This record gives sequence, C-alpha cells and structure tokens, in this order.
Amino acid sequence: MNRETIRNEVLDAILLRRSTRSFEEAPITGLELDTLLKATIWAPSGGNNQTWLFTAVRDVETLLSLNKLVRDGFQKWIPDDDYPGKLGAKKASQSEGFNFYYHAPLLIIASNAPNYENAMADCALALENVFLAAHSIGLGSCYINQLHWLRNDQNLRSFLFELGIPKEHTICSAAAIGRVKNQSSPPARKPGTINVYTPNKQ
Ligand SMILES: Cc1cc2nc3c(=O)[nH]c(=O)nc-3n(C[C@H](O)[C@H](O)[C@H](O)COP(=O)(O)O)c2cc1C
Repeated sequence: MNRETIRNEVLDAILLRRSTRSFEEAPITGLELDTLLKATIWAPSGGNNQTWLFTAVRDVETLLSLNKLVRDGFQKWIPDDDYPGKLGAKKASQSEGFNFYYHAPLLIIASNAPNYENAMADCALALENVFLAAHSIGLGSCYINQLHWLRNDQNLRSFLFELGIPKEHTICSAAAIGRVKNQSSPPARKPGTINVYTPNKQ
C-alpha cells in the first residue's frame, strides 16, 4: 500500500510493532503488568462472552520449568510429518539453548472455555491489544504458539493447572513480553493481499 494513509499514535503503534525474539533480563514492573492485563480484557469477544483467562507468569524458575515441559512435550507429541513451521519449532526444541519464550521476563498465557467456537479469535484479539499496548509503553512482544500446540499434553496441563489454568480450558496462545535487546527488521508484507472491489459502472 503506497498511497498516503492517516497517521496517529494508534496507527503508528500498529505499523511499528514488531515481533521481538531477544529480550533483556530486566523484569516487568507491576504497573506495566497491570497496564498490559487491562488491555487484554478490553478486547472484543464473540457475543461479549469473555470466557477467556489471561495468566501472567513472571517467576523465572516457573518459566524455566515450563520450558523443560515444552521441550519434552515436543519430542513426544509433534510427529515428524507435521507442517514445516511446527517441525522447525520441534528441531529448535532439541538444541542446547532452546527457550520457547526467548527468555522474556513475562509470559501471558491465554486460555478459554472448551468447545467455544470463538475461543481462538477472542484470545487473538486480546493478545494483539497486548502487543500494541506493550509497544506503546516501550516493551517488545512476541506471539508464542508452543503451549497451544501442546495443549493436550497431560504433564504440561498438570503444571498449568498449578498456575491456575482450569484443566478443561483450551490453551489458545501466549505472549512473551519484555524490554527489547535486539530487534529484527520488519518482514516484508506480501503483495496482493488487499482487495478493494470497485463496481464497474457503465
Ligand atoms: C498465530 C501465530 C502464531 C505465531 N507463533 C509464533 C511462535 O510460536 N514463535 C515466534 O517466534 N513467533 C510466532 N509468531 C509471530 C510471527 O512469526 C510474526 O508475527 C510474523 O513473522 C510477522 O512479523 P511481525 O510480527 O514482526 O510483523 C506467530 C504469529 C501468529 C499470528
């Protein structure tokens, strides 16, 4: 889209937010956490259901235990003929320094009611709110899919239950958040993905 577009603070955040995969160790403050969590619950939800749950984890030991469970789960549950993105993640999980949340000091796990058709959509909208809110207060963020992929792993679910996530919930997604250490350049947007229908008036 090369034509001129309107600019303001919200639109700039949408355009300038990037997925961050390299974070500083510095923790997230209570004020930052509350700001991000408020952004989640003000997202729209199908039928205003709000059946979601956003679980914030800042404890480093807990996050590292989760990382171990994800590594083990990948070897057990991801078949070798799965789709390329997932296989790439499985391969990465076998490497020495694997960390599925990129050592971010905060992980927000989004879960939702079982058998609810809009579970993923509602959580995705809430996480985009988080990503934009994070960007607007100088933090980096990244969508994390591993816990969704491993949502039926019983070892992982028992651990998540201890963190307060109901066993019947489906794990939709997670957000890694922290101060940016290294920012990668924006991946190019593919052409041909916007279609403006113009009626052919005779
Ligand atoms: C559904 C979904 C799943 C994603 N899963 C991951 C993930 O597990 N790990 C990761 O590093 N990035 C993940 N991403 C981030 C994408 O790779 C990223 O948004 C894309 O490359 C575009 O880059 P940008 O966010 O900087 O614009 C995911 C994004 C979406 C929407």
